[in-house]
Amino acid sequence: MGRRPGKQIAGRNLDTEIAIQEGLFLARQSHSYEYYQRALHSLAGGVTSSWQITRPQPIFIDRGVGSKIIDVDGNEYVDLHGGYGAGLAGHAHSAIVNVVQHQVTIGTHFAQPNENAIIVAENLAQRFGLPLWRFTNSGTEATMDAVHLMRAATGRELIIKIEGCYHGHHDSVQVSVAPDGNEVGLIDHPVPVPASSGIPSAITDLTLVATFNDLSSVEYLLNKNPNKIAGLIIEPIMMNAGIIKPEPGYLAGLKQLLVAHGALLTFDEVKSGLAAGPGGATGLYGVRPDLICLAKAIGGGLIVGAVGGTHELMQCVVDGTYEMVGTFNGNPLSMAASRAMLEMVVTPEAYERLETLHRRAVRDISGLITKYGLLAHVVSVGAKGCVTFSATPVRNYRDFLAIDDRFNHLHWLVQLNGGVLLPPWGKTEQWTISVQHSEDDMSLFIDNFAHFAEKVTRVL
Ligand SMILES: Cc1ncc(COP(=O)(O)O)c(C=O)c1O
Repeated sequence: MGRRPGKQIAGRNLDTEIAIQEGLFLARQSHSYEYYQRALHSLAGGVTSSWQITRPQPIFIDRGVGSKIIDVDGNEYVDLHGGYGAGLAGHAHSAIVNVVQHQVTIGTHFAQPNENAIIVAENLAQRFGLPLWRFTNSGTEATMDAVHLMRAATGRELIIKIEGCYHGHHDSVQVSVAPDGNEVGLIDHPVPVPASSGIPSAITDLTLVATFNDLSSVEYLLNKNPNKIAGLIIEPIMMNAGIIKPEPGYLAGLKQLLVAHGALLTFDEVKSGLAAGPGGATGLYGVRPDLICLAKAIGGGLIVGAVGGTHELMQCVVDGTYEMVGTFNGNPLSMAASRAMLEMVVTPEAYERLETLHRRAVRDISGLITKYGLLAHVVSVGAKGCVTFSATPVRNYRDFLAIDDRFNHLHWLVQLNGGVLLPPWGKTEQWTISVQHSEDDMSLFIDNFAHFAEKVTRVL
């Protein structure tokens, strides 16, 4: 190539390339443009969740089939967005379609328990090693209940969260989700930064913040607030800052520290859940927390969340000390789909296939990174993966902050214009391979990455 690996990319040329790709994007999306203009009059911001806003405009989707998604302009994409990771089953998987079709004809809501809820709870208990479960309707509800439960069980009000982890949009965890570099303070003692407006400081003041992969930052908070910390909530593999894995001994060390201070540990596996492996990060790293939160993929595309806990902790729910409630919790439709997902979709054979596709993506993209001398590396686990545009490993949110997000946006645009939909929001997100993806799908993804790498090197 004649270029020295590791050479930085000229910013202005990168912006020009982004503008060219955004122009191509818009040229292919005239119907999305019309829908968006219409939507602006009735949907706040033209979308149904603020994270559906993409640059230069939202993409309105018509339908999904298998590993593909088709937009309202008729463009077909290999779907590696996976609905922010909920799409592990792919679209319209026959096992899910069959049970959902049956269930809608016999009732979608009773607000009374049913057999499928028991079967799903038994399956999750076996996979994740915690005995007692309850269901919710989202990841946010699951982590909200987990935080309440940690407080209810200990009678303490403070919690610790990790800088850069996202746990949904309830008050207690809307702290230091994606703070700017000028707000965060020292790395050993991060400053808690409110993540949104509209949340009273009386609540967010109860949330303390520590650094990922740094036990001393947690120990400091525990020592500084004796008998006041209910517990810590963490994504055991960070998946809202690209992908950041726990270093050896980190999760076990956290557990030890918390036990020593009479505090509890919650793993938020809403994203990692079934995607990192059959028993999530909990299964991979062999550390058993007091609570696990799940959502996204477990419903096979339907709406469901779950909280699993130890007997001791769930006793608060059993005896009514903590009332864990919700009209649609464990509704028959979601339970039927979850049962099908757990029993028929995420089988050992499905994980073998996912592993084959995952290995190929990592091998080929890493090869292209080396070939083109990009300052980047691939981080992946199970169905999830991302290209991290940094020459050195990213260990925590501070390292992540330093990444130039324009590389991710350009990569997203090149993939999109080349027929592959990745999640938007640049460096924060990662791909999800579904059980319905094929070798051909991965080939397109890898070919597009080669185009991207070639473009990036050209603008050096
Ligand atoms: C780790 C994690 N926890 C919780 C949530 C919130 O889940 P939901 O969007 O279903 O409320 C998310 C959403 O992306 C997440 O990534």
